[in-house]
Amino acid sequence: MSAPPARRRHPAATLVVLLLALVVTGGLYTVLAPSRAEATTTAAPADVEAGRALFEANCSTCHGLQGQGSPSAPTLVGVGAASVDFQVGTGRMPLRADSVQAPEAPNAYTDEETAAMAAYVASLAPGPPVPPDSITTPVDDPERLAEGNELFRTNCAMCHNVVGAGGALTRGKYAPSLEGTTGTYIYEAMVTGPQSMPVFSDTNITPEQKQSIISYVEHAQTQPSPGGLSLGSIGPVAEGLFTWVAALVALIACAVWLGRRAS
Ligand code: HEC
Ligand code: HEC
Repeated sequence: MSAPPARRRHPAATLVVLLLALVVTGGLYTVLAPSRAEATTTAAPADVEAGRALFEANCSTCHGLQGQGSPSAPTLVGVGAASVDFQVGTGRMPLRADSVQAPEAPNAYTDEETAAMAAYVASLAPGPPVPPDSITTPVDDPERLAEGNELFRTNCAMCHNVVGAGGALTRGKYAPSLEGTTGTYIYEAMVTGPQSMPVFSDTNITPEQKQSIISYVEHAQTQPSPGGLSLGSIGPVAEGLFTWVAALVALIACAVWLGRRAS
């Protein structure tokens, strides 16, 4: 007796298995993937319209009528509300003088006008939104402060100095002092990476860790200098030089005094 013939597979079986696998993978991804921050604007259409008018009057000469950019300024498509809030809020935009780096200045617009322009730019394409206060308010928890200190030293201190006092970069650029900068601007600087500053995405530094960094920066600024004079907190070179000069003056004074006594 011969063995029963092996069951023949239906010709469509492979296709069905493949489709099933695709559906399961897609479904699992939707369920398990980290939720993206809502990138699209939730602003009212009236705000977007007001923002468009302000933008056309104040920004379009450089950034183009649709924010598409020009030879003199980058495109704003996809930079998000966070970038506009940061750039306009810190007075960097509208750019006043042609310099290597837009300097900080008093904000030329009201909060409503800034928000309207941010809403307009966010309506062009998805980008990072203005972060909510819940994630930009400093927390006073020793563990989070320690984490923030650690993260700041590894990610920011090479440009902004250990206590955020700022420092020089190449070609006349500089990393500004972080003194007096609000939590919101610190957060926005991290997610938008202005100028030569890198972008710190949420996979790189989570929103929670960003809040720890904000907490550390704000905390470091309220710390008294236990040694008396902070010398601008610009680092060991300045402090070393100060000590060296002070010691030298003392030694010269000694030498002069001894010389007087000997003669
Ligand atoms: C005189 C030209 C000029 C004007 C006017 C101007 N900008 Fe800019 N803008 C620039 C240049 C140049 C840069 C890039 C250099 C920099 O970031 O410092 C820039 C950068 C930006 C960025 C950062 C883009 C990014 O990649 O994250 C934003 C946001 C922005 N501008 C918004 C505005 C808004 C809003 C206005 C109007 C209130 C405005 N700008 C007016 C020249 C201009
Ligand atoms: C490669 C050097 C570099 C690194 C690393 C860097 N920054 Fe910056 N940062 C800059 C520069 C340059 C600017 C000024 C940008 C401008 O003027 O448009 C800046 C601006 C800022 C501002 C705006 C300050 C103000 O006065 O408005 C904040 C806040 C800030 N950085 C925070 C951070 C934090 C927090 C980190 C670490 C997570 C970091 N930066 C890492 C170079 C750097």
